Order: sequence, then C-alpha cells, then structure tokens
Amino acid sequence: MDFRLPIMIGELVVMKASVNWVGRTSMEIGVKVFAENILTGNLRHTNTCYTTFVAIDEAGGPVEVPRLVCETDEDQRRNTDGAERHRRRLEERDAERKRRNK
Ligand SMILES: CC(C)(COP(=O)(O)OP(=O)(O)OC[C@H]1O[C@@H](n2cnc3c(N)ncnc32)[C@H](O)[C@@H]1OP(=O)(O)O)[C@@H](O)C(=O)NCCC(=O)NCCS
Repeated sequence: MDFRLPIMIGELVVMKASVNWVGRTSMEIGVKVFAENILTGNLRHTNTCYTTFVAIDEAGGPVEVPRLVCETDEDQRRNTDGAERHRRRLEERDAERKRRNK
C-alpha cells in the first residue's frame, strides 16, 4: 500500500469501503482512506487500496458467496474495473508460480 500523504498523530483515520467485484468465492473490497483533522474537520485523502477476501467454510475451504447486484453506473464501473484487476492478479500469481517452479 502506498501513502500519497502522511497521517499525523492525533488525526482521525476514516475509511470508506465498498464491495467492487464478487467472483465465485472471492471478492474485491476497495478502501479509500482519509485523515481527518478533528479540530477543523478537514479531510485529506491519503491512500486507496484494494483487498481480496475469500469466504471459507468450517473446514477452511473456499465457499461460494452471494452475487453482487450493481445498482448504479458507478457500481457497474467499479465492478468492471474490479474484474480486470482480479484477472491481472491471477495472471501475476500464475507467472510467479511458473517462475518459482523453474
Ligand atoms: C484462502 C484459501 C482458503 C484459498 O484457497 P485456495 O485453494 O488458494 O483457493 P482457490 O485457488 O480455489 O481460490 C479461491 C479464490 O481466490 C481467488 N484467488 C486466488 N489467488 C488469488 C490472488 N492471488 N489474487 C486474487 N484472488 C485470488 C480465486 O480466483 C478464487 O476466487 P473465485 O472463486 O471468486 O474465482 C487458502 O489460500 C488458504 O487457506 N490460505 C491460508 C490462509 C491465508 O493465506 N490467509 C490469508 C492471510 S492474509
């Protein structure tokens, strides 16, 4: 995760998260992070990151998750972008596996 701006001691960290994309067992959550100056209320966008979660059952194996319903154009855009990032992550994972097995 890269920080565009520092978060100072005493500032409040505000995180806004959204489910961008859902696969069969995994999902991408986008997180936008802000630092809030509690005296002025001023918000600074410090970084954005994308996290992947995999749903697991009692045995620890991946389990299917409910479909994502995109209600707005913004939801749809996030979904399309999330799907593309997921595709690239798998490509990177496979390339890394191949590299290790050489
Ligand atoms: C998490 C865990 C249960 C997944 O099991 P797995 O056998 O690797 O799972 P699969 O290969 O079937 O992949 C499961 C899902 O993760 C996705 N996935 C796998 N590797 C991924 C990667 N590098 N980036 C993004 N998504 C990935 C797959 O596409 C699949 O999603 P989908 O069903 O929506 O298509 C397993 O890796 C595990 O137990 N790991 C140990 C615990 C762990 O690593 N925890 C994370 C600590 S931060």
